[in-house]
Amino acid sequence: MTRTKIAAILHNPTLNQQILVKAWVRTKRGNKNVNFIALNDGSTIENIQVVAESSLFSDESLKDVTTGACIAVKGTLKASQGAGQSVELEAESIEILGKADPETYPLQPKKHSLEFLREIAHLRPRSSTFSAVFRIRHQLSYAVHTFFHQKGFSYIHTPIITASDAEGAGEMFQVTTLDLNKIPKDEAGKIDFKNDFFGRQANLTVSGQLEGELFAMALGEIYTFGPTFRAENSNTARHLAEFWMIEPEMAFYELPENMALAEEFLKYLISYILENCKADLDFLAKRFEEEEKNKKQEERAEMGLLEKLEFVRSNDFVKLTYTEAIEILKDSKPNKKGQFKYPIEKWGSDLQSEHERFLVEKHFKKPVILYNYPKEIKAFYMKQNPDNTTVAAMDVLFPGIGEIIGGSQREENLEKLSHRIKEVGIEEHALWWYLDTRKFGACPHSGFGLGFERLMLFITGMSNIRDVIPFPRTPQNADF
Ligand code: 4AD
Ligand code: MG
Repeated sequence: MTRTKIAAILHNPTLNQQILVKAWVRTKRGNKNVNFIALNDGSTIENIQVVAESSLFSDESLKDVTTGACIAVKGTLKASQGAGQSVELEAESIEILGKADPETYPLQPKKHSLEFLREIAHLRPRSSTFSAVFRIRHQLSYAVHTFFHQKGFSYIHTPIITASDAEGAGEMFQVTTLDLNKIPKDEAGKIDFKNDFFGRQANLTVSGQLEGELFAMALGEIYTFGPTFRAENSNTARHLAEFWMIEPEMAFYELPENMALAEEFLKYLISYILENCKADLDFLAKRFEEEEKNKKQEERAEMGLLEKLEFVRSNDFVKLTYTEAIEILKDSKPNKKGQFKYPIEKWGSDLQSEHERFLVEKHFKKPVILYNYPKEIKAFYMKQNPDNTTVAAMDVLFPGIGEIIGGSQREENLEKLSHRIKEVGIEEHALWWYLDTRKFGACPHSGFGLGFERLMLFITGMSNIRDVIPFPRTPQNADF
């Protein structure tokens, strides 16, 4: 007999038929006549209720049916008499596939803190919250590919190991096979990479953009979707050392079209989840509501999770320049009252997450796209505006998150680009292949990067980025 998944049983029940279910025990309760076993196989947030009559199953025969154990149940699907479920499985035979010692199984059916669940990241996907989060993560990945596929973009697998620093920020993890106890040095006392695996210094990529641009100059519209690595020592609820990024890159797009695509993309993804993940989203919305109750009145979100998602997908994002934003921030209450950790004093300051969140959550109460940033605070590849002080950069800012997307139009002028590369102190010869696209058939082009986990945070209402990636990598932590 083949097994039937619980999702299929509950969504399309065929009563009075014999079926086989294989799943993990969530709870067992009962009395001297009957035992009720709640089973979950991960195919849906919902459990199926198994009814095991004492006339068929002795207490002894059910002693290993404990929370966390994996069992196979053969039985007949019946309409349920009890409240809370419409069907139940009347057990005829129960086989224990894998026991879970109740003395040591850490995931007991009670409320655990997210911190504790992070310590048992190998088991946390078996909890309702995390199973919902990770089913949504799958659906969201699928939606990313669907969106671009429908638009005729090609998915390009850019390299994970690279010799260049795409963001020029020096936040890279090194990749080497050199014996770190015997590092070879050259005459000048510098590390000699000649005998290293690649014959040169190599790193984990911080972005697939530069390689993505090469393909946009050939296929027109492409995107990457892969892991990226940043050795920035930011121990915050929004930073990971290993995160996933989606980076579309489009020939012939200028900044306004780039911004429009970013907005359309985010709205599509949110709509997709609203329409395709109802049960998981409802569960997370309830959880979000509970969490909010524990917060002080003034810290509570203004909207529930579903309401917030609806709101973002059905409202235009505000677009304004960096310069306009600085004026608003300079005159803002928190700035005047000294409530910002980094006060805004002059044009040119980098915006911190507190400023981004003020604009989005307090001032506009809508997602915001900021554009035309000072060139000093942005990456070398961004298109220089005619004013010589700003670049055609754009950041999309979301409530509760801050920056969710960073992007720009790219500098396609060879002279301006090489000048900027020298100015910021990058070795030009390392990027010869990148500069070649500006020599051969250059054209205006643009792109952006969406932090996948930041969008996951927004959609699931979880508050720590460590809880929306299966196995988070953060400073001092690479367990599992
Ligand atoms: O703004 P960033 O650094 O832009 C780039 O990497 C460009 N190459 C993108 C492009 O134009 N193709 O990063 C893009 C996004 C951020 O807006 C943020 O959402 C996410 O990546 N991000 C992180 N997410 C989690 N942890 C980190 N440490 C992150 N750093 C950036
Ligand atoms: Mg950025």
